[in-house]
Amino acid sequence: MATTERHVATGSLQELAKAHLWMHFTRMGAYAEHEIPIIVRGEGCYVWDEHGKRYLDGLSSLFCVNIGHGRGDVVQAGADQAKELGYYSTWTFAHPPAIELAARLAALAPGDLNRVFFTSGGAESVESALKLARQYHKLTGHPNKTKFIAREIAYHGTTLGALAATGIPNLREPFEPLVPGGCHVPSTNLYRLPRHMTAHDLAETIRDRILFEGPDTVAAVILEPVQNAGGCFTPPEGYFQRVREICDEFDVLLISDEVICAFGRLGHWFGCERYDYLPDIITVAKGLTSAYAPMGALLATDRVAAPFDEGTNGFMHGYTFGGHPVAAAIAMANLDVFEREGILEHVRAHEADLRAMLESLRDIPIVGDVRGAGYFHAIELVKDRSTKAEFGDDEAETLLRGFLSGELYRRGLICRADDRGDPVIMLAPPLIAGPEQFAEIEAVLRPVLEEASERMHVTG
Ligand SMILES: Cc1ncc(COP(=O)(O)O)c(C=O)c1O
Repeated sequence: MATTERHVATGSLQELAKAHLWMHFTRMGAYAEHEIPIIVRGEGCYVWDEHGKRYLDGLSSLFCVNIGHGRGDVVQAGADQAKELGYYSTWTFAHPPAIELAARLAALAPGDLNRVFFTSGGAESVESALKLARQYHKLTGHPNKTKFIAREIAYHGTTLGALAATGIPNLREPFEPLVPGGCHVPSTNLYRLPRHMTAHDLAETIRDRILFEGPDTVAAVILEPVQNAGGCFTPPEGYFQRVREICDEFDVLLISDEVICAFGRLGHWFGCERYDYLPDIITVAKGLTSAYAPMGALLATDRVAAPFDEGTNGFMHGYTFGGHPVAAAIAMANLDVFEREGILEHVRAHEADLRAMLESLRDIPIVGDVRGAGYFHAIELVKDRSTKAEFGDDEAETLLRGFLSGELYRRGLICRADDRGDPVIMLAPPLIAGPEQFAEIEAVLRPVLEEASERMHVTG
């Protein structure tokens, strides 16, 4: 019998991380020569690394920590619940935290999105929504409606079903073949509209695709209110109203993927409220608990839920940790903070300040576009502003990984330099941030973007 040598982990945090921690979406090889950034503490809009250096968390730690770091009151609600009932499942049982949170979300949601199915995170919420759409159509006599339409470059998560909706080739290719049925249409990139298209045509691409696939085969359309990947693509006027009409025309469910856009990111409880449309299903995660516990959910309308209530039917789907009582208690405390401290009002009062600060950077040659809504913005970086010329792959690599990411971090700003579409800098500060933090962001961004212009020889 082979003997197994027991490995005793010793060493500094750096050594242990490099040896044992498989970091997500990370080129681990890059850390052979460099330190892994290890964040040890957070308070308000700021976090500190293991050396005691402070950073402005300009990304709310992956668009999550909406109410800011270090909220003892929210944590306490979780501890209290853990003492009372640390865990019970929502499989044929229920418990007060899940019931109360479901009722509260239903009350906050627009329209009749009254039924709440809990998950442990965003991809599970998307996965659940896609499965719900398929089973809904089977129960209502349309078993061939299985396909879903998403947008190019959109990120909807990494589980195989959600990945089939994700429209980023690099993330899909290593795992092909994917779940069948994912189709893609253009994003609402108003800075770079597809050739021969107007903004008005963008919603029609969804109708065209439904017709091409065959309306009898399409289950759902899944869209973010503001698309994250690619850099905060906002919808043109009337886009979602038209998409709603198209979905109704062909009995296709409209899924609003609000894993980022709900819970104040756009200044409303739900992103669809900002653009005044009513989806059939909303997916959420991240800001639901402000990441004080992992939790997601989907909300479905009465119409979508109804066939599942009939006879012996049921949604044949579940997760052990869906509706976890500690996470649900934390979500309730998080929503209390939103209400007590006027978080939505704060975002609506100050989003123009954030935007104005970012707009003021337009004099820097490399800044091609500034776009977004609420506390969710992107700056697109270009080679030539007059022609909107893009950087090539190698140039983008040099710009983003060779300079920007490291330099912004070195100067104490955490944001995301991203090239899942064209190169962008993404900013999504905690929703408690205000003019003081915006000034700090500018104080870092301006010199770094000026230096980036020089390094990349952008003079326009
Ligand atoms: C719109 C959207 N959907 C789904 C996901 C996946 O969420 P998670 O990472 O919690 O699985 C994300 C993650 O950023 C997202 O932005």
